[in-house]
Amino acid sequence: MADHVLDRPPEGAAADWTIAQDWSAYSAADHETWDILFARQQQQLPGRAAKAFLRGLEVLRLSKPGIPDFAELNDRLHAATGWQVVAVPGLVPDEVFFDHLAHRRFVAGNFIRRRDQLDYLQEPDVFHDVFGHVPMLADPVFADYMQAYGEGGLRSLGFGALDKLARLYWYTVEFGLVREEGGIRLFGSGIVSSHGESRFALDDPSPHRVAFDLERVMRTRYRIDDYQQVYFVIDSFEDLLRQTIETDFAPLYGRLAALPDLGPADLLPGDVLITRGTQTYASERAGG
Ligand code: PHE
Ligand code: FE
Repeated sequence: MADHVLDRPPEGAAADWTIAQDWSAYSAADHETWDILFARQQQQLPGRAAKAFLRGLEVLRLSKPGIPDFAELNDRLHAATGWQVVAVPGLVPDEVFFDHLAHRRFVAGNFIRRRDQLDYLQEPDVFHDVFGHVPMLADPVFADYMQAYGEGGLRSLGFGALDKLARLYWYTVEFGLVREEGGIRLFGSGIVSSHGESRFALDDPSPHRVAFDLERVMRTRYRIDDYQQVYFVIDSFEDLLRQTIETDFAPLYGRLAALPDLGPADLLPGDVLITRGTQTYASERAGG
């Protein structure tokens, strides 16, 4: 979400900040970068990613390899759930982002990372935005959650509660885990699009894994510069949608304003712990 953004669309962008994807401008090397990333994750994710994500990957299998042409991708995605992907020049203001979501449009960067950034980059590129997000947008329940989130985002601005609501996005849409068939699976876009984190989030003893609790999540700060120190685990997508839709966030924002934020590795007595992490990874990285 938006941090260092312009206050009006840059030259060449439409009033809603969208630009043409300009698919023909990608180089052969750009397409190859996509194919390398795609092949790696396709190999790694079966058995790790949620069924809904793996099912949704089918919409990305287009008529040609390489970076998806949004026109062809949108035909399939729109047929599945009414969602579309639109290209934007980078970060957009919060209300622009939320308004697109509320209208079932997902904004995606159109650039792809350099070859020396296959493993980690902080800003979302087309691989993260499309490979990470589009499969879940092809799931009818998650599709409704994302639209409701956009509407909730617009509403949160009126309460000055954007930081709280952004944490819900972070710990579900970007870094969420879900219980499935007696195990835990990945669905967060930031995890499934990362070769390293899609192992770390499930297998590493370092991070905490805590049962999802709406208020708890909205109190918890997150890190944008490294693997997460805590992951929250939802019971199901239906449960996530139901809870967030049925809860009026206005009183929640009021309560949260009076409570201290939690650090990413803090635990509370009421937490339902699935794994208590050792936090070894984070402390080693901090210690240098
Ligand atoms: N129910 C939330 C509100 O009252 C809106 C929302 C729905 C937020 C879904 C996030 C996800 O603001
Ligand atoms: Fe993302």
